[in-house]
Amino acid sequence: MTTTIPTTIPSVHPTASPVAFPTAFPPNFMFGTATSAYQIEGAAHEDCRTDSIWDTFSHTPGKVLHGDTGDVAIDFYHHWEDDLKLVRELGGDTFRFSIGVPRIIPTPDGKPNQQGLDFYSRIVDKLLDYGIKPIVTLYHWDLPQYLGDQGGWLNRDTAYRMADYAAIVAKELGDRVDSFTTLNEPWCASFLSYGGTEHAPGLGQGPVAFEAAHHLNLAHGLMCQAVRAYAGAKPQLSVVLNLQENRGDSDAVHRLDLIGNRTFLDPMLRGYYPAELFAVTQGICDWSFVRDGDLQLIHQPIDWMGLNYYSTGLVAMSDRPQFPQSTAASVNPGASDIDHLPTPGEHTAMDWNIDPNGLYRQLMRMTNEYPEIPLVVAENGIACWDAVITDADGVKHVHDEQRIAYLHDHLAAVERALHDGADVRGYFQWSMFDNFEWAFGYERRFGIVYVDYSTQERIRKDSFAWFRRYIAEHRS
Ligand code: NOJ
Repeated sequence: MTTTIPTTIPSVHPTASPVAFPTAFPPNFMFGTATSAYQIEGAAHEDCRTDSIWDTFSHTPGKVLHGDTGDVAIDFYHHWEDDLKLVRELGGDTFRFSIGVPRIIPTPDGKPNQQGLDFYSRIVDKLLDYGIKPIVTLYHWDLPQYLGDQGGWLNRDTAYRMADYAAIVAKELGDRVDSFTTLNEPWCASFLSYGGTEHAPGLGQGPVAFEAAHHLNLAHGLMCQAVRAYAGAKPQLSVVLNLQENRGDSDAVHRLDLIGNRTFLDPMLRGYYPAELFAVTQGICDWSFVRDGDLQLIHQPIDWMGLNYYSTGLVAMSDRPQFPQSTAASVNPGASDIDHLPTPGEHTAMDWNIDPNGLYRQLMRMTNEYPEIPLVVAENGIACWDAVITDADGVKHVHDEQRIAYLHDHLAAVERALHDGADVRGYFQWSMFDNFEWAFGYERRFGIVYVDYSTQERIRKDSFAWFRRYIAEHRS
């Protein structure tokens, strides 16, 4: 592996606004980066791994930009030792990664695959050797295809199968893992995947998203119980949500919050679905899939809630009637009378607007409405049109000033929220490495380490050096 160290460490981006108070990060605040299995590992058919719904989806023509797949990705499966050296060099105290479900239970008989378990066990041990806490996501969207064939998240049984899988992982790794996160972004795994067509399996059946969401909520509860039962007392439990952050017409903002956010927040943290959610989905979803006892199961004590924050939307009520459009393919069933407007200001390579205040607002909203739950920014980052420049000495650089400014301003928003009373326990940058960005394939780069996909060379971007210095200055 070639590694290059930038000759100059960039200081804070000149346009970034300074923080007006002394650093607010409390002792033991976790600093790190995040990744997920399908996005980095590759080795799709090695050591008994079988297909996930994302293997099937990415191999279906037209689903992923340029026909990219996760077959090779950044080949972390073979580069993990060198890659974890980069994680150590960054200087954070945590690393968030996910377990590839089809490596652990590759076949419908549910038998654990020891080769898969050993792979993650080696990663956990290496991180611990480096003094880095492993934060393990149990489900980051790579549902085994054989479960997909049985209906995936529309099949209630999937929740129970995932709990069995969680028990296997907890038994194997529970003595060494700092925190198990049950689910990553269940909104994407239901609304984008079953309501819309953008994510696997891309069903596009609008309101069925609520059923998928309920089964994901159920899986969360059952997985919490499984981890508690098999991992002993050590690991913390968490879940990671991507709350829809919108501004604009207050009725539209309120309805999207109800559908996209409280569908997960309220059952997980309060043990109920809000009555208003039943009201706004009347006629498109009868909620008959919620069985007696489900909400008690879903409402498990957890140690922190992770929030993935990237951007803020702008919404308005439209003149369209809400029904029957909401029965069509829709990522927001129950909200077809809401328009998503072009957002103002600077945008990223994903065409997402940049709004650090949105992160501040989200942290404060959680603090005000769900004060009992500690928070972690489990993902925050930016895709940029990064370019490699080779200097006169033949050293390769990626000058990603926009990323540095983004990270600086969002970390400042976290500091502001801490200062104003939010109980934020950590910040994980997305992502340590460029990787497979789902429907956008490899074109969109979120990493602070650049990956040349033709050679698998890793090149530290300027943001790597910047974040390393930031961590060194702020870590207690
Ligand atoms: C959230 C997802 O968890 C992650 O997999 C994805 O790459 C980033 N957002 C960026 O879109």
